[in-house]
Amino acid sequence: MVSPDRQELVRNSRPKWHDPNHTFAPRPRPSHPDPRPSTLDTQVSTRAIDDSHLVRRLLGWFARNARDLPWRRTRSAYAIWVSEIMLQQTQVKTVLPYWERWMQALPDIGAVARASPQALHKLWEGLGYYTRVRNLRKAARLIQEKHGGRFPEDFDRVLALPGIGRYTAGAICSIAFNQPRPVLDGNVIRVLTRLFGIDGDPRKRAANARLWQLAQGLADAASRVTSSGACSQLSQSLIELGALICTPRQPRCGVCPVANRCVARRQGRVEELPQKARRAPTTARRFVAFVIRKRGRLLVRQRPPGEVNAHLWEFPNIELAPGIAGPQRAARDVLGIEPARLEPLCTIRHSITRYRITLRAFLIEGRGSPGCPVAIRGRWLNHRQLAPLPFAGAHKKILHELAKPSA
Ligand code: ADE
Repeated sequence: MVSPDRQELVRNSRPKWHDPNHTFAPRPRPSHPDPRPSTLDTQVSTRAIDDSHLVRRLLGWFARNARDLPWRRTRSAYAIWVSEIMLQQTQVKTVLPYWERWMQALPDIGAVARASPQALHKLWEGLGYYTRVRNLRKAARLIQEKHGGRFPEDFDRVLALPGIGRYTAGAICSIAFNQPRPVLDGNVIRVLTRLFGIDGDPRKRAANARLWQLAQGLADAASRVTSSGACSQLSQSLIELGALICTPRQPRCGVCPVANRCVARRQGRVEELPQKARRAPTTARRFVAFVIRKRGRLLVRQRPPGEVNAHLWEFPNIELAPGIAGPQRAARDVLGIEPARLEPLCTIRHSITRYRITLRAFLIEGRGSPGCPVAIRGRWLNHRQLAPLPFAGAHKKILHELAKPSA
């Protein structure tokens, strides 16, 4: 039987919010008694009118300008959850093929719960921040056990799932279930600090609390809009505005739908906001990796639990202490041998958090049988055996290098 999540996942169709037949259930309207307004009430209702105006502008702009992204063609909470987790710390263009592959391989929550950690890591290979995929698995199993396999709709239950914080819970509940829940990620922080002219570091308590409050005001205004799916579209419009218009540098204020209400623009402070704390300076780190090949097999090892890139596979490698130790010495340290010949294979550069990493890989053509002792607990595997294993990003690039005819 096809699961409800699978049924909801509509591929190769126009986005659901373009679909005239697609409607969210109407949300109950709050019934207000009619007290005479106090000054505070007047201020609050002025803010509410402003919010309603902003929401209308944002929704209109989104309907005309939203990118046609595959997770926008569905209301499946599962599919939207996966997209939101992948989009944490990762750009849309990187996520697109990963999301497509994941949804093909694992069309519903049950499939995630049943999949092996190796299969899940393989689908995540190269996306980085692998705690995300381990949390997806834990959460899927929990949903199977506690929620009968259906993604919960209640905000607090969503928030209680592993790997889901306030932003992601808000994103899922608003986008998938059309609840008036605010979203506040990096993009939305930038939009709101500028729009409302919020000073102070937005990650610090005072400014952050203010931003959540403002975001909630907009979500509430969206819940008063009569058109279907307004809360869902509001969240997406704020994310989209931050991605396409209200960008960190050279924002496109000339085409911004809310430019005439933007405090930062009025004050000429668009480039100054948000006021972020200075980032820790980047640090250069150097590693060497050794590709030992014997009779068509390569020596690889799996990273232990609790470390960066835990459970992923890699070639034996070691970090070079600053200013000392060349590859020969490193080979002795990591392999327990000093090879006669180290053949430079490739140099891989990548950045992770605040580290700029350079990894130099060397090829060692071994003689004798692959079983000969090395000071490493690894496995000798041929290319067919290596294929299903998830590799850490830089080491995957080494594998690509090895696949070239010159290697
Ligand atoms: N970034 C975070 N959530 C997103 C979404 N739903 N669409 C595009 N970019 C995003």
